[in-house]
Amino acid sequence: MKSSEIRRRFLEFFESKGHTIVPSSSLIPGNDPTLLFTNAGMVQFKDVFLGRETRPYVRAASSQRCLRAGGKHNDLENVGYTARHHTFFEMLGNFSFGDYFKRNAIQFAWEFLTQELGIPESKLWVTVYEEDDEAADIWLNEIGVPPERLARIGDKPGAGKYHSDNFWSMGDTGPCGPCTEIFYDHGPDVPGGPPGTRDADGDRYIEIWNLVFMQFNRDEHGVLHSLPKPSVDTGMGLERISAVMQGVHSNYDIDLFRDLIAAAARETSAADLASNSLKVIADHIRACSFLIVDGVIPSNEGRGYVLRRIIRRAIRHGYKLGQKQPFFHRLVPDLARVMGEAYPELVAAQERVMGVLRQEEEKFAETLEHGMGVLEAAMHGTGCDRILDGETVFRLYDTFGFPLDLTADIARERGFTVDFAGFEHAMALQRERARAASRFHMGQVVKFEGQPTEFHGYETLSLQAQVLALYKEGTQVSSIQAGDEAVVVLDRTPFYAESGGQVGDRGQLLGANGTFLVEDTQKIQAEVFGHKGRLTLGTLAVGDTVDAQVDTVARQRAAWNHSATHLLHAALRKVLGSHVTQKGSLVDAQRTRFDFSHPRPLTQEEIQRVENLVNEVIRANYPVQVRLMKYDEAIKQGAMALFGEKYGDDVRVVGMGDFSTELCGGTHVKRSGDIGLFKIVAESGVAAGIRRIEAVTGDVALAYVQQEEARLMEAASTLKTPPQEVGQKIAQILDNVKHLEKELARLKSKLAAAQGDELANSAVEVKGVKVLAAEIEGADAKALRDTLDKLKDKLKSAAIVLASRAGGKVTLIAGVTPQLTDRLKAGELVNHVATQVGGKGGGRPDMAQAGGSEPEHLPQALASVADWVAAKL
Ligand code: ALA
Repeated sequence: MKSSEIRRRFLEFFESKGHTIVPSSSLIPGNDPTLLFTNAGMVQFKDVFLGRETRPYVRAASSQRCLRAGGKHNDLENVGYTARHHTFFEMLGNFSFGDYFKRNAIQFAWEFLTQELGIPESKLWVTVYEEDDEAADIWLNEIGVPPERLARIGDKPGAGKYHSDNFWSMGDTGPCGPCTEIFYDHGPDVPGGPPGTRDADGDRYIEIWNLVFMQFNRDEHGVLHSLPKPSVDTGMGLERISAVMQGVHSNYDIDLFRDLIAAAARETSAADLASNSLKVIADHIRACSFLIVDGVIPSNEGRGYVLRRIIRRAIRHGYKLGQKQPFFHRLVPDLARVMGEAYPELVAAQERVMGVLRQEEEKFAETLEHGMGVLEAAMHGTGCDRILDGETVFRLYDTFGFPLDLTADIARERGFTVDFAGFEHAMALQRERARAASRFHMGQVVKFEGQPTEFHGYETLSLQAQVLALYKEGTQVSSIQAGDEAVVVLDRTPFYAESGGQVGDRGQLLGANGTFLVEDTQKIQAEVFGHKGRLTLGTLAVGDTVDAQVDTVARQRAAWNHSATHLLHAALRKVLGSHVTQKGSLVDAQRTRFDFSHPRPLTQEEIQRVENLVNEVIRANYPVQVRLMKYDEAIKQGAMALFGEKYGDDVRVVGMGDFSTELCGGTHVKRSGDIGLFKIVAESGVAAGIRRIEAVTGDVALAYVQQEEARLMEAASTLKTPPQEVGQKIAQILDNVKHLEKELARLKSKLAAAQGDELANSAVEVKGVKVLAAEIEGADAKALRDTLDKLKDKLKSAAIVLASRAGGKVTLIAGVTPQLTDRLKAGELVNHVATQVGGKGGGRPDMAQAGGSEPEHLPQALASVADWVAAKL
């Protein structure tokens, strides 16, 4: 059974059991700072489990793309070494949000495996959390699993309560709960024991499905709080169940991987299809391509660094197979063939993905070879302890771009261990230096237990509110004094918190006893607004009533820029095509910065067309319509949704005429005409396939135009011409300069010729031959040649050397008249002089040129010419 069929049958099975099929969300979790990547199917439902969000359904099923690299669930190091680890994989899952619990979850899973897929019951083993009698009872007494095929798994020794293979957590914080796992027995040919036994780590019994009974929310102190309603979250790796259904033991032998491994072999010319390096490359091309599809770009921090590490690991494995040229990006079309049907966004982004990968490959190629040299030398130089020292590992990291895990991987292959402590030490020293630059993130330091903030900033810019909490240096306090930096939480606010690219509002909170200046507003957790700033006067205490006033000018400008960003987005799609999608944006009071996918720089004409379109819509003065509707409805009406953003079921749709419709939570103008004027001020590239436009609006746009005009006026006045004629005038001046340069060259050569006349008189006679060796000041090579020709004509039978010097260099030319060339060669003559001034030369018998670098020896060298000629004759 093909993987695609398993995926389809899974979704259809759960649909028939009353589940709503929900599409895979992006690998980048929307609005969740606690998580690097989507690492399980439940991630997009996190807030639903926590009771912070409701959906119109209580049962859902999905096939979710997941990444487990970096963060809590990290399999990167295992890829290529085991039969079943991947960085990227697809997770089939069914979910209940306070609807069914353990009984149905277990029944559904069993029915799907044994009836829908027809897997023999005797092949399946199960585990439950040690104290979960309820689940054990369902398995043993309702499903009828024999007791010898069920194991109870407790907490790991010494790890504390709820730290068990049968207790699943999304991350260090968030929803979690006990789980029951279903294992498949790959048969006695494969070594390994049943779950719960000492040799359970073998490969014979493989976990295929995890059913989590979500019951708790773990906070950052590790304390568990009960969820509002017990729920279910299950996850079955598509690759693992495909291996079962396709009768193979290794995930790398399933249909999804076979073609990729063949493609990796083709691109690296590897002959051994069983090579682990090919598996690594096949795994990594999936992870890297989908990360790039979802908007990640290789960089040195956060998600971008994980992507960089994976790419570099793939390149290194190519290198190991002997492929030292960029090859990895060429696997993208193969991947698109294998997975494009299920993920059309991959096909759409194919060119861009290839570009980003190629660029990264080229970049790493510059240092890979050198770094490998350093690494080889270090391993060679180590005595018998086989430890790679931390300094070297850090140097490889810092100078040669070798991620730590890459170095560790190579070391492991060679039986070396890495001095991680030494590496950390070297790293810490560097971090110390960089600390000054680090920024204060509110979300990491405060924790608020209370109601979400009521946001009124769409309707009003000032209102009365009550202080619910105050945080100073990350600690909750009951009051603050003048001079204190703090974060204020209110019950209601008109301040917009940064999101969707729009910066947070600034303004002030006026209390009866104090004034708090708000410098930034950020969500410190979902729907709780933190007003960050400083108390400039008096005191402020929890319980105080404040007049919360947004800086109206800054907010208004941000609104112009935000609305203009929507128009820009729509205009770019009209002018360049529908491949343009937003890749990032930053909207503040000064400008809008918009990144989007497009393979080439924009021409001046395209930029103008975009500007014209946006300004037309501004002049049309459409009312800006904000509507709340269902997500599906909005998409059906053609609203632009950002790929990788998380949207709830009810969305806010911002429309301007029929020109632009986008899902957006930002603050906007009332009518498009409010924007006033839109002007693009810069266009540049930020990464392969991604362009950036910066633009200004309203009075800032006007100021920009005025400034440009002032510059033009200044140029006009310097050129003493009306501004309309500046271009013409500059062309004229450049023409004139060209003309003058020509004239100058002509005069120089005329001057040289005139000097030539004089020079002719200074020739000496050596055995009937006129010999002339002279320096001509200021002559270039052409002037020397012209003068030489004149002198040859004049002197009839002569040997001539002319020289000039400029900038520490000597230019030499020698000529011999035709009757003499059988006895005197110009090439030899010029060489005779050149060697004395630190140069070399040669050429035809009648004319030859040379240069030199020691002008101080020139007079002497010229003086030696007569003797040289005398000796030859
Ligand atoms: N969220 C659970 C897992 O990832 C199902 O294993």
